[in-house]
Amino acid sequence: MGYFVIDGLKMPVSGEVVISGAKNAALPIMAASMLCRSAELGRCPVLSDTEAAAKILKTAGFECTRDKSFKIRRISDGKAEIPRELCGAMRSSVLFAAPFLCRFGYVRMCAPGGCRLGARPIDIHLDILAKTGAEITYDNDSITAKADCLKGAEIVLPFPSVGATETAIMAGVCADGRTIIKNPAQEPEIHDLCSFLNFAGADIHCGKEIEINGKNAFLGNAVHTIMPDRIEAGTYLAAAAVTGGELFLKNAVYEHIRPFADILTQMGAAVCQTETGMYIDAPERLYNPDFVETAPYPLFPTDMQPQLTALAAVKCGDCLIKENIFETRFAHIPQLNKMGADIEQKSPREFLVHGMNRRLESKTISASDLRCGGGTDTCGTFGQRRGSDTKRRLYSARLRRYLSKDVAYWCKNAVLHLTRRAFKFYYI
Ligand code: EPU
Repeated sequence: MGYFVIDGLKMPVSGEVVISGAKNAALPIMAASMLCRSAELGRCPVLSDTEAAAKILKTAGFECTRDKSFKIRRISDGKAEIPRELCGAMRSSVLFAAPFLCRFGYVRMCAPGGCRLGARPIDIHLDILAKTGAEITYDNDSITAKADCLKGAEIVLPFPSVGATETAIMAGVCADGRTIIKNPAQEPEIHDLCSFLNFAGADIHCGKEIEINGKNAFLGNAVHTIMPDRIEAGTYLAAAAVTGGELFLKNAVYEHIRPFADILTQMGAAVCQTETGMYIDAPERLYNPDFVETAPYPLFPTDMQPQLTALAAVKCGDCLIKENIFETRFAHIPQLNKMGADIEQKSPREFLVHGMNRRLESKTISASDLRCGGGTDTCGTFGQRRGSDTKRRLYSARLRRYLSKDVAYWCKNAVLHLTRRAFKFYYI
């Protein structure tokens, strides 16, 4: 288990940072590459999850190479089984079920692992596979699905699950006939997956419902640049806001992270889109919103809830936060309280954050899931933290002094101001 030391300097998080490709777009796109002759992905992030996805592709007979882009190409027959340790390594292993079924007519796998956020069943994924013609059987803890050919179907999702929508799209593109997905997730990562597949020859129309004209054949070659990571962008915005910083986030898209960016604006920060990214200038004193609850896109993302909680803990006023997506996405709260925050549980899914308008104390704390790390690190920029391994790339990024024309255009006073600021961050 790794750890970070964050030296919470009395300095704001300021400068420029380049936002990477989105993990949650890269993973389904890597799975969907199995439906294509070949795929070439730009901006594919280097993370333990994408490494696990590459290992699953290798099992299926695909060669994965990385230079400037990430290239995937089928080179051998492969095996129709997702190794147990790779299923356990991440939740997204379930996204490979539909592509394996399309390629092999068969897949054997076990329940996926992933961040511990409460029960995370895969019943909707399996219902979709059954609806498109697969026969599912259970044997101890392994699941087998068989189908000679997937068939188009009308799929009504009981909840706009991101992963289940992706499974339905991947099952639909190479199926025989038309698939309609009702009540689909609308996250930008879903649109990124559809753009990738349409480039390779799929026929997908995204609206309130998703309509797919199945090809009953594999797709061609795909070249695609993974969308920028909106949650990474949001986490940097939180770090700038918590420290009263001024930051340019190259590649970030305001629209993707609007609910959080709008809250920062209400709190008193200046946040805007520029031609090439996003810009934030946060004063030291920010005022908390009264109430924020998580919900599917385009509403407030659950993946930003820990970072918002951390921010609210050190700003002015009370904020009630409700988590509606995951049962127990609250691992960051005891850690923040250990650092001196005042966060009170009001109901199983509601927490009242009493903003303290001051720094938290330096403590050794741990992060048991990725965004818990995002939340505690957000506050860590305000104190000193030693915690478990979270997401190296977020915090090892080099923040450069900002002197771009872009921000000078949006905020004429920014350049001089920024050259006076400094930023110090350690990763060990
Ligand atoms: N759900 C079911 N049955 C299913 C599928 C989902 O009950 O078959 C429930 C889940 O238990 C959960 C809710 O539906 O309570 C939402 O889950 P969803 O399927 O939408 O989430 P996911 O596809 O597992 C993705 C992201 C998560 C992000 C959520 C919500 C990826 C790889 N993961 O997960 O990202 O929080 O959507 O936006 O895309 C993260 O990046 O830290 C992360 C957890």
